[in-house]
Amino acid sequence: MKKRVFSGARPTGRQHLGNYLGAIQNYVALQEDYDCIYCIVDIHALTTLENTDRLQQDIHEMMLDWLAAGLDPKKSILFVQSHVPEVMELHTLLSMVTPLSWLLRVPTFKEKARMQPHNVNYGLVGYPVLMTADIVLYKAEVVPVGEDQLPHLELAREIARRFNTLYGPTFPEPQAKLTSFPMVLGLNGAQKMGKSYDNYIELAATPEETSKLVMTAVTDPARQYRSDPGHPEVCNVFSLHRFFNTGRADEIAVECRSAGIGCVDCKKLLAEGINLRLAALREKRASLAAKPKYVSKVLADGAKRAQAIAKKTLTEVKEKMGLLPPAA
Ligand code: TRP
Repeated sequence: MKKRVFSGARPTGRQHLGNYLGAIQNYVALQEDYDCIYCIVDIHALTTLENTDRLQQDIHEMMLDWLAAGLDPKKSILFVQSHVPEVMELHTLLSMVTPLSWLLRVPTFKEKARMQPHNVNYGLVGYPVLMTADIVLYKAEVVPVGEDQLPHLELAREIARRFNTLYGPTFPEPQAKLTSFPMVLGLNGAQKMGKSYDNYIELAATPEETSKLVMTAVTDPARQYRSDPGHPEVCNVFSLHRFFNTGRADEIAVECRSAGIGCVDCKKLLAEGINLRLAALREKRASLAAKPKYVSKVLADGAKRAQAIAKKTLTEVKEKMGLLPPAA
C-alpha cells in the first residue's frame, strides 16, 4: 500500500511563483507515489485574519491554481479543512495530552504574538495542535512542508508519541519531507516571494502583466552599467532562469558574466520563459474557471472522502480515551 501524504496550506488566494516552485510542484509530483491528501486550512487562517470578507474567494482562487497546476481530484483528496469538522473534535481531544509549555515555546507562536500583540488569541497557541489533528486524523506518515514548519512537525510527532504512550499505538509519527526547491526570492530581491511583501507574480497573471512585473525585478546590485559584468550566482532574476529557462540557463549565465547581455535583455528572456512554461497552466485555469460549480464539486467530493477516513480515526480515538465503550 502507498504511504499517505498530508499537507495543508493557508488560503492565500491566487498563488504566486514562489508557492508554485516551493510547494505546489512538489504536491503534484508526490501524487504519483503516495496516497495524497491536500487541504486548504481555513480554520488556521482565522488565527491571524481579522477580516474574513475575502475568505471564500481566496479558497476558490487557490483551488483553481492547484487544479490548474496538476493537482488531480482523481488521484488525490483535495478539500477545505472546515468541511470536515471532525478535525476540531480531534483538536480538542489532543489538546488534553499537550502540555501548554510545549506550545508556548514554539517559535512561530512567539513571532505571531509579537506581530499581532492586540490579538494573541487562544487559537494561536493551539495552532500546532490543530495542525497535528490535521495530520493524524488521516494517519499520514509523510508531510511535505517548508523549513519554517519543522518546529510544528516536531511537535506533531511529540503529541502523536504521547497519545500512543498514554492510550496505545494509534498514530504514525509523521515525518517532514522538505521541498527541494531553494527559497524563491521576491522581485525586490529582499525577502522571499510572498503575498505580504508585494513582490510576487501570480500564476494567473497574463503574459503582459508577467513581463511588466519581471521588468521591475531587482538584479545583481553590483551591475550598474550595461557594460559591467554580472554575477548570476547572486542575481535574483538568474535564480528563476534555472527553473523557467532550464535549458538555456548556463548560456544566459555566460552572457551575463561577459556583459554580452544586459539586465533588460535577461529579464525579457525570463518573462518569455515564465510565459511559455505557464501557458498550459493558465489555459487550464481559464477553462476550469469557466465551468460553473466545478471547484465546489471537487471540494464537496474531497470533503466526503476525507470525512470517511476522519470518522473512523475519531471513533478509534474516542474509544481509546474512554469516551465511547471499547470496540467489540
Ligand atoms: N502551518 C502550515 C503553514 O502555515 C499549514 C498547515 C496546517 C499544515 N495544517 C497542516 C501543513 C498540516 C502541513 C500539514 O504553512
